[in-house]
Amino acid sequence: MKILSGKELSALVKEELKTKVAEYKEEFDRAPCLAVILVGEDPASLTYVTNKRKSCAEVGMAHKDYTLPTDTGEEELLDLIDDLNNDEEVDGILVQLPLPEQIDERKVTCAISPAKDVDGLSNENLGRCLSGDRGLVPCTPKGVLRLLDHYKIKTAGKKVAIVGRSNIVGKPLAALLMRKGRDATVTVCHSKTRGLRKILLDSDIIIMDTGVPGLLKRNMVSEGCVVIDVGISRVPDASKKSGYRIVGDVDYDAVAPKCSAITPVPGGVGPMTIAMLLENTLQSAVDRYV
Ligand code: GUN
Repeated sequence: MKILSGKELSALVKEELKTKVAEYKEEFDRAPCLAVILVGEDPASLTYVTNKRKSCAEVGMAHKDYTLPTDTGEEELLDLIDDLNNDEEVDGILVQLPLPEQIDERKVTCAISPAKDVDGLSNENLGRCLSGDRGLVPCTPKGVLRLLDHYKIKTAGKKVAIVGRSNIVGKPLAALLMRKGRDATVTVCHSKTRGLRKILLDSDIIIMDTGVPGLLKRNMVSEGCVVIDVGISRVPDASKKSGYRIVGDVDYDAVAPKCSAITPVPGGVGPMTIAMLLENTLQSAVDRYV
């Protein structure tokens, strides 16, 4: 059983990015810049945003930070995005999700200029993802594919089951995997899917993105299966200083021995998402001069 280490691969990607960012600075006399917006005080979101900001600095990119109160109005957020769309210093704009309930998430996401939409979640970029036209590809799906490529896991002709149908992961990942060149046969499952276990037992690759800790059990995977765990949940753990630990959607200890390859949580897909965000920011920064 092979452990697909996003921790290791993301470190490699970041090393490469460091070099590319240095070359970019040399050529254009400026650093690529990511604007990171957090609305509210959700502790998990704060952790993600802090990691994203730190990672920018690690590879030599600039970042502009915006932390807004929970009761921020939609108009105010849209005004900020409008300013950043027109800000020459800014190459990428990231609004951490989820947003407080008074704000329409899709409206905000789609207000980001497609050229600066480094999360790839606007209708323009999701559409490009579906058609295969060049655009900014959502970070988590891009990170999953990079992991598979790095560990030479082929998808052509394979049966891939994705459990989860979100705009961030399931939908774009299905589109990417079924593209010519990837050539997977994709089944997208969700909470209403009948006969989930049977579908999963018949799959070569299983990708979990449900947020339900330990949902994927040993009796749901076939021998030699590849398992990608996108889930990140906090569960109470009195033995930890923080009072919680991070777990994925997979009952890891039971499932891993049956797999030919599996991603751990933490240290699997999570760090890849951030590395791909940085890659997308560099792509935006380069594309503004082409
Ligand atoms: N929340 C969970 N995943 C993501 C992501 O990929 N991007 C943003 N902006 N928010 C998220």
